[in-house]
Amino acid sequence: MPNAFYKDLIVYQIWPRSFCDSNGDGIGDLGGIISKLDYIKDLGANAIWFSPLYPSPNHDYGYDIADYMDISPDYGTLEEFKTLLNEAHSRGMKIIMDLVINHTSNEHKWFLESKKSKDNPYHDYYFWRDGKKGGKKPPNNWKSTFAGPGWSYDENLNQWYLHLFADEQPDLNMDNPKVREEVKKIMRFWLDMGVDGFREDVITFISKKEGLPNGFPIPVACGIEHYKKGPHLHEYLMEFKNDVLSQYDCFTVGEAPMMTPKLALEFISEGKNQTLDMMFHFQHMQADCMITDFIQRPFKLKKYKSAMSSWQTELYGKGWNALYLENHDHPRIISRYGNDEKYRVESGKMLAVSYLCLGGTPFIYQGQEIGMTSIKLPEIEMYEDVSTKNVYKMARSFGLSHERVMSLAKRASRDNARTPVQWDDGKNAGFTSAEKPWFHINPNYEQVNVANDRENPDSIWSFYKKLISLRKANPVFTYGNYKEYMKDSDDLYVYERCLDGKKLFVICSFTEKQVIFEAPEGIELNSGELLISNYKYPALSNNRFKTKPYEARVYLFG
Ligand code: GLC
Ligand code: CA
Repeated sequence: MPNAFYKDLIVYQIWPRSFCDSNGDGIGDLGGIISKLDYIKDLGANAIWFSPLYPSPNHDYGYDIADYMDISPDYGTLEEFKTLLNEAHSRGMKIIMDLVINHTSNEHKWFLESKKSKDNPYHDYYFWRDGKKGGKKPPNNWKSTFAGPGWSYDENLNQWYLHLFADEQPDLNMDNPKVREEVKKIMRFWLDMGVDGFREDVITFISKKEGLPNGFPIPVACGIEHYKKGPHLHEYLMEFKNDVLSQYDCFTVGEAPMMTPKLALEFISEGKNQTLDMMFHFQHMQADCMITDFIQRPFKLKKYKSAMSSWQTELYGKGWNALYLENHDHPRIISRYGNDEKYRVESGKMLAVSYLCLGGTPFIYQGQEIGMTSIKLPEIEMYEDVSTKNVYKMARSFGLSHERVMSLAKRASRDNARTPVQWDDGKNAGFTSAEKPWFHINPNYEQVNVANDRENPDSIWSFYKKLISLRKANPVFTYGNYKEYMKDSDDLYVYERCLDGKKLFVICSFTEKQVIFEAPEGIELNSGELLISNYKYPALSNNRFKTKPYEARVYLFG
């Protein structure tokens, strides 16, 4: 496979509102980010993905964009952004922006125009349709992926507009060539300024089946079969590539719900038909849930392993993997696949090993590197996330008790990942000097914070830093082939990676139980170098050992 600069990156994701506040208004901002660039570099990351920084009424915290070519006054100015970009580049760090073009905010000027009249030039930028039954019923049965209706009514026009997400996020009509030109303008605006690429929000949803036919009747995301990989998706992505992206030294990561390796290769196979460089799939995020984080089931390691293994093997030599365990849309991983009480540190390190030894480009979400945990807010009024609030309403209307829904929300809400980063054990965890930060701070900040972790050689932070530096120093981490062992184990995830005579051998225990690990034939653990482990004096005799709680080891051979 050809080399490309993005393959060697370690990307750090910033969700700006909760990262670091520099001016004391309780909201994270560009000044805060600039002040932490050295911190991110010290960790070893050499790229940053910014969740949306644009002006937004924040119904979906930045993912409802009111102006694609500016910076939200909450965060700073365009001039400050240029400074940030320079500061990052001068440290050898790449910057990618979040490109949210499936929908805009309902306060975007295109939408405000579009609803003025049916013959307004912007009317066809969106999916405006007449309703059924004399206009009073929505045009079809589609439902929002955020739990709620997929259409909203506008009295003035006596028409409905489509929104796959919140009411305030009208979907753009990508079939309109003018809309595609606008998208290209936005891309060029940021690329000309010097940004290095885009994370493309729900990019696989941008083409909808002609005629918008009714969907299979399910309460959430009804209709999804008609847009999850719509008829013109390839064509539009190819147009963006040919007309814009191919003219810059940049890269793209497409967010792709319901994606499988086989389908992904239609987009990311390296060659002339390639339209995206990588994709964020969701398969490994469903080892403790189904479809959405709210439909929960007990964690099953085999589900995690089989997702990881199929992406590793099916893409090998053909397309490039994006690796992640956390982002702003999912609860903290230690609270899901690890143990956020007794074994927070051990399981946090083990989870890092489990994915940072895989092939691809790793993404690390702010706070993940210090093992932040889900906040599990007890009252619905304490939540900010629109999807959590909608799911609460829907579940209650289905007859689930308040207690039951709250227990789901505590485990599933996106707000679990959106609490301010815990910088130190001082006031407001060092996030802001304001009296009150914009959102709740996890009370565990007195123990779990950056200052503590950076001082402590045995912390999760120090472990991430070491693992990242090992990854950078040994190409087998990034480029090696992949083979899984002990597929049937419910407790251990074991795999090897090989490249140019080197072999990495990775053992991760996903349980606090003691499990006997026996090296498979051909692997002599004694003859390898133990590169990293989350226990000080790992035992080994006769090529076998009893695992400690959430133990992880990485051996290097050759
Ligand atoms: C993506 C974003 C998520 C947002 C949604 C709608 O899934 O990651 O935060 O709510 O798209 O834009
Ligand atoms: Ca601020």
